Amino acid sequence: MYKCAIILAAGEGKRMNSNLPKVMHKVCGKEMINHVIDVMRTADIEMVDVVIGKGAEEVRKGTESRNINYSIQEEQLGTGHAVMCANEFLKGKSGTVAIFVGDGPLITENTVRKMLDFHEKGDFKATILTSTISDPAKYGRIIRNENGEVKKIVEFKDCSEDELLVNEINSGMYCFNIEELLSSLDKLNNNNAQEEYYLTDAIGILKNQGFKVGAFDVPAGEITAVNSKVELAHAQEIMRKRINIKHMENGVTIIDPNSTYIDCEVEIGKDTVIYPGNVLEGTTIIKEECILYPNNRIYNSILENGISIQTSVVLESVIGEKTTVGPYAYIRPESVIGKRARIGDFVEIKKSTIGDNTKVSHLTYIGDAEVGSGCNFGCGTVVVNYDGKSKYKTIIGNNAFIGCNTNLVSPVKVNDNAYIAAGSTITNEVPKDALAIARARQRNIENWVVKSGHSK
Ligand code: UD1
Ligand code: CA
Repeated sequence: MYKCAIILAAGEGKRMNSNLPKVMHKVCGKEMINHVIDVMRTADIEMVDVVIGKGAEEVRKGTESRNINYSIQEEQLGTGHAVMCANEFLKGKSGTVAIFVGDGPLITENTVRKMLDFHEKGDFKATILTSTISDPAKYGRIIRNENGEVKKIVEFKDCSEDELLVNEINSGMYCFNIEELLSSLDKLNNNNAQEEYYLTDAIGILKNQGFKVGAFDVPAGEITAVNSKVELAHAQEIMRKRINIKHMENGVTIIDPNSTYIDCEVEIGKDTVIYPGNVLEGTTIIKEECILYPNNRIYNSILENGISIQTSVVLESVIGEKTTVGPYAYIRPESVIGKRARIGDFVEIKKSTIGDNTKVSHLTYIGDAEVGSGCNFGCGTVVVNYDGKSKYKTIIGNNAFIGCNTNLVSPVKVNDNAYIAAGSTITNEVPKDALAIARARQRNIENWVVKSGHSK
């Protein structure tokens, strides 16, 4: 039988104090709501419905690649009301529906599978994912009867003093039998501190009707909810730790996991060594035996085997094997750097290809250029790619030698094996095997200092 889930994501998240809908905040590079959706999918839940309301368009846009169903909750009247809004989605379905909160990004596939299994094997009509924590704070409390069975959930704001002392809490994640869920939702009211229709009240209603309600206990780290920026940072810390452990288990050496920031979709090959202060973002792939010395930001890029890089920024680019980068290099989008190349200190490369074994060692800007292999760029080369209106292209062949402090005024072409004298401003094509010199010839005026009265 197919499995289905509802994710509640219509709330505004006032405590985030943000213009962004709460569930669109990212944890290790991925929106919280997408973490939850992706976990559902890996746990083989095919039909996923997301209840949206506040910031609906943004949430829809941010999740549309995931091919899910949406229900709309126009007015946020509580979590129970949110599930009522998924009525259309539930209509005609039977069996189990899993319900999750969009602000609980740390849930894992393993737990989802185990919870579904526990719910179905135990013949429960509802199963709550619970956790026992030392500081139950603002979570709903699990209240048990004298036989130790779950009796109801009481929201933090509605708790008596005794109930506040309970440290078994509701994660906001559940399994329900669809039929009983729908009938219990009909019986909800909003006679409570927040005047909301609480989904949590469905538990007490089912128990009162004599149905079996289960509780499935998981470690707190998996159910941590994010309601504020402080909790967002806490969730990131937990997720970051998990990601770093996964890479270390795969053979990556991380010198200091506490100061290494790797987004959840980044891939890293074995025997790559990562020093502190590296920020690896988006869909970056770093292959084997690379050395990431301290302080790089690498976004949506591919680094082939054996690269070494230090204190640099690489955005949406590809770097070939055994190339060295930095310190203080800036490789901007759509650049492709060859193998065994060198991109040295204070070098900026923008939307350019650089061939194998080419060295751009210091203080150079290369933009909108195609550079061949085996070239050498002297210190302080500038590709003058912009005339104030348009960008133009520079083409440089193989084995060219570009002297220090050269300007290459685009569009311009330098052919294979050509040399350019230091200090040249090149505006015309340089033929193969030629030396181009484009600077004023030096003139010495003898005794000028004395004659002009500048001597000290
Ligand atoms: C909820 C639970 C609480 C539990 C906690 C776990 C209820 C009444 N309380 O409280 O027992 O300990 O989660 O994190 O369910 N939402 C809607 N529509 C609404 C209200 C909320 O879609 O009208 C969504 C929110 O976007 C959010 C989720 O439901 O993703 C939880 O809402 P939130 O207001 O954060 O509930 P809590 O007070 O944290
Ligand atoms: Ca919450």
